Amino acid sequence: MNLPNMIEAKKRSREDAKHIYLDDIKSDMYKDKKYFLKTYGCQMNVHDSEEIAYILESFGMTKIDTIEGADVVVLNTCAIRENAHDKLYGFLGRCKHEKETNNHDLIICICGCMPQEESVSNDLIKNHPYVDIVFGTHNIHELTDMLLNKIDNQNIRVYSIEGNVFENVKYKRDSNIKAWVDIQYGCDKFCTYCIVPYTRGKQRSRHSNEIIHEVECLKNNGYREVTLLGQNVNAYGKDIEDITFAELLDKVADTGIERVRFVTSHPWDFTDDMIEVISSRDNIMPYIHLPLQSGSDKILKLMGRRYTKEEYLTLYNKIKKAMPESSITTDIIVGFPGEEEEDFKDTLDVVEQCKYDSAFTFIYSPREGTPAAKMEQVDKKVAEERLQRLNEVINKYARIANEKYLDKVVPVLIEGKSEKGEMLMGYTDTMKLVNVSAPNDTIGKIVNVKITNVKTWSMDGEIVE
Ligand code: 5AD
Ligand code: SF4
Repeated sequence: MNLPNMIEAKKRSREDAKHIYLDDIKSDMYKDKKYFLKTYGCQMNVHDSEEIAYILESFGMTKIDTIEGADVVVLNTCAIRENAHDKLYGFLGRCKHEKETNNHDLIICICGCMPQEESVSNDLIKNHPYVDIVFGTHNIHELTDMLLNKIDNQNIRVYSIEGNVFENVKYKRDSNIKAWVDIQYGCDKFCTYCIVPYTRGKQRSRHSNEIIHEVECLKNNGYREVTLLGQNVNAYGKDIEDITFAELLDKVADTGIERVRFVTSHPWDFTDDMIEVISSRDNIMPYIHLPLQSGSDKILKLMGRRYTKEEYLTLYNKIKKAMPESSITTDIIVGFPGEEEEDFKDTLDVVEQCKYDSAFTFIYSPREGTPAAKMEQVDKKVAEERLQRLNEVINKYARIANEKYLDKVVPVLIEGKSEKGEMLMGYTDTMKLVNVSAPNDTIGKIVNVKITNVKTWSMDGEIVE
């Protein structure tokens, strides 16, 4: 995107990126200060926040859970739907109040996908002068420098770098049991509703040897599970070297790490080789997130999704045939421009046929600068009503999928305390959330759990020998 305030885009090589991180920060400027970090959006953003946390903590800062009492606040934003704006401006209001009334020195940082949008960056500059630091998805590593060189004026750095791939990135990971591993940045698919190719740039894959090295280090440090991250993981490798995602998966499985997951898959690039590798390797989990978006050929075409309803169903059935016990989840958008009742019924038909384990469902949200935003929009009430009807069917099948687990014994990787406190929680290999009565020393272990009770979105169970 062209930002008027954008510092000239620089082209960096992979090697250069290695030297951007400061291992040893000598400055006392932020020593013993407190930071508050809030993250919205996808797993990419969650993982980016682990990098931001590393940078802040290398200054000697510690994390707190409230804006009140913080010296530095960071909001890592998501731009995928309109409600992102409400969240950003709600957050800014709270920060402004805190800065004006309690802490004039509060440093307010806004980062992530939203500042990559020209209108947002301009607005922050013009209308929110109390915001100190703004950086985009390509500039996280520069936070160190921005904090060290904070001056009275706003410090805004949002680059549009198409060629950047970062290696040797350091993270303060949220878990010491499971880890995110970026395998590719950006996306080339340009689905007509989606802002991601604009905010995160074109697809750039990491070299497989760097990925394998990262997974081996994680395994040696006691991690049990890795999730390979990308907007469209099955297009991995197409931009750099002679390697496919199926081959990468095989190599990652060879490291011997206990659990390998990956998100997100685009049906268009999902090959038979991938199905073969996933079904034949015990440590690749039988869980596939396969976004449908719509079941109507007309809408799929308008969305630029590159597959038809029939092609999607053929792929789905192929996966289920190879892995009958696998769980498959999806993303669906209702109310896309031009969606009529019969198009929506096609979506419901696919849901009835696939009986998804679960789904993320969304009302289409126009994103400025994307082709679909200029198409004729569907009435909001109609879209809301469709979402409700869709969710009823999704919930029905989510519950049915869980009911199959009742009284079964399944392996669960125990991650920590459950939300309600008393029990521990973890996930099955098929990504089902299970609350387990188990001793604390099972945290970090894969244990056999008998499912004693199922609900729509979680299950309860107890450890068996
Ligand atoms: N409106 C609604 N949902 C969207 N998604 C992406 N862009 C939009 C949009 N403009 C959904 C898609 C995608 C998921 C991450 O978010 O379903 O798979
Ligand atoms: Fe967006 Fe489509 Fe790329 Fe997914 S594949 S990130 S929906 S453009």
